[in-house]
Amino acid sequence: MSYPYQIRSMEEYEKAYKDSISHPDKFWSSVAEHFRWKKKWNRVLEWNFKEPRVRWFDGAKLNITENCIDRHLEKLGDKPAIIWEPNNPEERVRVVTYNRLHKRVCQFAQVLKNNGVKKGDRVCIYMGMVPELAYAILGCARIGAIHSVIFGGFSAQSIADRLYDAEAEYIVTSDGAYRGGKDIPLKSVIDDALIGNRTVKKVIVYTRTRTPVSMLKGRDVWWEDEMEYAETQVEKEGIVSFPAEEMDAEDPLFILYTSGSTGKPKGVVHSSAGYMVWTTYSFVNVFQYNPGDIHFCTADIGWITGHSYIIYGPLSAGATSVMFEGIPTWPDAGRFWDIVDKHKVNILYTAPTAIRSLMGFGLGPLKGKDLSSLKILGTVGEPINEEAWHWYDENVGKKKCPVVDTWWQTETGGILISNLAGVTPARPSWATLPMPGVQPVLVDENGKEVTQKDEHGLLNGNLCIKAPWPSIIRTTYGDHDRCRQNYFAAYPNLYFTGDGAWKDDKGNFRITGRVDDVLNVSGHRIGTAEVENAINMHTGVVESAVVGYPHDVKGQGIYAYVVYGHIHGDEEMTRRDILQTVTRVIGAIAKPDKIQFVKGLPKTRSGKIMRRILRKIAEGETSNLGDTTALLDPGVVEEIKQGKL
Ligand code: PRX
Repeated sequence: MSYPYQIRSMEEYEKAYKDSISHPDKFWSSVAEHFRWKKKWNRVLEWNFKEPRVRWFDGAKLNITENCIDRHLEKLGDKPAIIWEPNNPEERVRVVTYNRLHKRVCQFAQVLKNNGVKKGDRVCIYMGMVPELAYAILGCARIGAIHSVIFGGFSAQSIADRLYDAEAEYIVTSDGAYRGGKDIPLKSVIDDALIGNRTVKKVIVYTRTRTPVSMLKGRDVWWEDEMEYAETQVEKEGIVSFPAEEMDAEDPLFILYTSGSTGKPKGVVHSSAGYMVWTTYSFVNVFQYNPGDIHFCTADIGWITGHSYIIYGPLSAGATSVMFEGIPTWPDAGRFWDIVDKHKVNILYTAPTAIRSLMGFGLGPLKGKDLSSLKILGTVGEPINEEAWHWYDENVGKKKCPVVDTWWQTETGGILISNLAGVTPARPSWATLPMPGVQPVLVDENGKEVTQKDEHGLLNGNLCIKAPWPSIIRTTYGDHDRCRQNYFAAYPNLYFTGDGAWKDDKGNFRITGRVDDVLNVSGHRIGTAEVENAINMHTGVVESAVVGYPHDVKGQGIYAYVVYGHIHGDEEMTRRDILQTVTRVIGAIAKPDKIQFVKGLPKTRSGKIMRRILRKIAEGETSNLGDTTALLDPGVVEEIKQGKL
């Protein structure tokens, strides 16, 4: 497979960028030509951001799995699509060729069909990082069902909310999952999530850890039995290849829940054609993928990075994608380097938080590991500090691998701002230039484009995008107006990212972080309102305010100020009870790092919490708190300062 749309030089980038803006229809149809369509589009793009309504490749028919699998079979059938590295390095590696992937995905699509799943049905997937997770995702896409993968760290309550919101009728899960030294009992969490649920009809359970699980007659079925039966159908009924459902370009492919500044997580909906074209195009260009390269994205498939750059982007490009079940620090902090060495990884794509955490172990874990196969390094998920960037560049890339800093979001589906490895210049902690088709703009609070440079000679503002790219969010599941309000209402005719950024004279962007009440903890998005709601559910809590503070490894830590009615036992026990409550309501990933008990929160006369002050105190700033004249009771601030953790 070759990629005629691959950009190979700065000049080609400049030309591609220019063409993509001046003639988007021509530009994107020439990229889309290189995919497998059941029917070509009538129109490349139709849009308005007011509703919003965005339609890419309208009228086209396709199935993304034919692009990710079938079209490679002739030439790449025996080549590895997925190399699976188990949690335990002693366990056997599984190499899934494109032929095998085809077989398993078709088989699982048949299983879904046998269990009553139809096009458009929502299937929730709650599994560890095993190849069967890829079969489940692609099996859904093959049959036209909408998958919604939930990260294994979310609690039963979070799953229940998502099942309800997505009106999911089917679940695919495992008995358990291995992560480092832990076994996580996934099925039992699902059982808790299903108490009182009225929509779910079937739960398909894959055996991984062989933890005892409850299997309810009529509802729960074993993955292995179902797959075996599907295989016998091949013999009995002569089903050879499960036919790929014909999907409209704009049919939803998946829902992925993500946190915002208000309320419960929202279900971001991505479409079939636009998402496919963008993830492939960005994968090939940002990472400068060459056929045969081994690509290792360390993300979990429960997040967008795993969807776009472990599964859809790489497979559609006919690449070999490494899927890792474990964690970077188990059995020791050399695990990533062992994997690179063992599988001769060429592209390593990870998160700044992982780099910072591994930096903490020094250079020892890198000793004796052959990293010479590496050609390209990437980061994603949060701003990378210069120290971590240089450490990665020097000690992992040995200064010979371009580092790409890729900025994007769940809602953008794929990378929007990044250097192209070795093609456009890298700059530590800068995401640099927009991809072709992406028109970023910085605006002030009133939505006016920022034109005045700040004291550093840079433009500084809220990052918006002017026009749609193919994998832009289409809606939030079940509530289109929420999508409009969240992303398209802040500034007319612009998509608002929620991030702040700087821009230099050459058009490079540096992302400074969220400007809304969303935290980025270890590259995971968590809404402060969500954490507050969870804390407030704890008996005895009167109210709470949650802010972020700089954290050496996680990027941001969670700092909670809690007004408590009556301490049950001692403060330390109460803290632990609150953590337990948050774990139950959201999941362990949302646990505050610090809980400070306070008598009251700083509020304005109209009762609004002045978070700015709380943020400053959490950051360790106690003298310069800015304007505090609006405070109802300035005494509260003094007390909070005294008690800072
Ligand atoms: O604040 C930005 C940050 O992560 C947010 C998106 O989070 P999520 O939807 O969970 O997706 C993460 C993986 C794409 C953004 O709003 N972010 C992501 N990448 C970068 C980043 N911040 C700075 N630099 C990046 N490269």
